[in-house]
Amino acid sequence: MEISSRLECIAKMIEKCDSIADIGTDHGYVPIYLIEKGICKHAIASDINMGPVEKARANIKHENAEKSIECRLGPGFSTVKPREVNVAIIAGMGGNLIRDIIEEGIQVFKSLDYVVLQPVQNPDVLRKYIYESGYIVLDEDLCKDENKYYEVIKIKYNNEPKVLSDVYYEVSKILLEKKHPLVKEYVCLKIKKYDKIFNNINDSGEGAQSRKNNLKKMVMKLEGMLECL
Ligand SMILES: C[S@@+](CC[C@H](N)C(=O)[O-])C[C@H]1O[C@@H](n2cnc3c(N)ncnc32)[C@H](O)[C@@H]1O
Repeated sequence: MEISSRLECIAKMIEKCDSIADIGTDHGYVPIYLIEKGICKHAIASDINMGPVEKARANIKHENAEKSIECRLGPGFSTVKPREVNVAIIAGMGGNLIRDIIEEGIQVFKSLDYVVLQPVQNPDVLRKYIYESGYIVLDEDLCKDENKYYEVIKIKYNNEPKVLSDVYYEVSKILLEKKHPLVKEYVCLKIKKYDKIFNNINDSGEGAQSRKNNLKKMVMKLEGMLECL
C-alpha cells in the first residue's frame, strides 16, 4: 500500500517488533503498512469514533490484513492493556490532545518500549510536556507533505524532568544537532511567523508591549540557531 510522506515518516520510526497500537487510527493506513512491510506481526487499530473504526475495518479487509489487525473502539489507551503491545503511535492530532491521551493512559504508556507521536498543531506544547514530565526523547524527524511541515517525536517513559529554553520546545534540539536537511527552512518559517505576529500588534498597552518583547526575544533566539546551521 502507498502512503503519504507524513505517514511514511511515522512508519520509519518503528523498528521490527511483535505488536503495535495505533491510537486515533482513522483510515488504519499506518497499521496496514506496518503489517504489509513485515515491520510488526500484530496491530491494534483504535479510535474513539465509530466512523473511523468502520473506515479502518473496511481498508483492512480490502488489504486482506484482518488476521493481523484488530479494530477497537474507545478513547486513547483505554482500548489497550498494559504490556499488550510493544509500541504505540499517536498521530495526526493536536499536541494538547496527544498530551492528554498520554496522561490518561499513563499505565499503558509506561509499559511500552516507545511511542511515536506526530502532532499536527502545537508541537511546542507537546515537547514542553515531554521534557518537563521526564520522558526520554529517543529520536525526532521532520517531513514536508503537501507543503506543510510535520514533526515526528519518538519517546519513552522515564522520570527525569528537564526544563529546556523555550526555543527548544519550538525547534527540536535533536533535529538541530543532526542538522536535519529541513531544519534550516523550518527555523526560517518560524522566524517569519513570529515576525508577522510582531508586526500585527499595534496596541501600545503594557500587555501588548510585553508580548512584543517576548516575540522579539524568540526571533533573536531562532536567528541565533541559524548561525549554527
Ligand atoms: C486527523 S485523524 C488522524 C488519523 C491518523 N492517525 C493520521 O495520522 O493520519 C485523528 C483521529 O483521531 C481520533 N481521535 C480523536 N481523539 C481521540 C482519542 N481521545 N482517542 C482515540 N482516538 C481519537 C479521531 O476520531 C480521528 O479519527
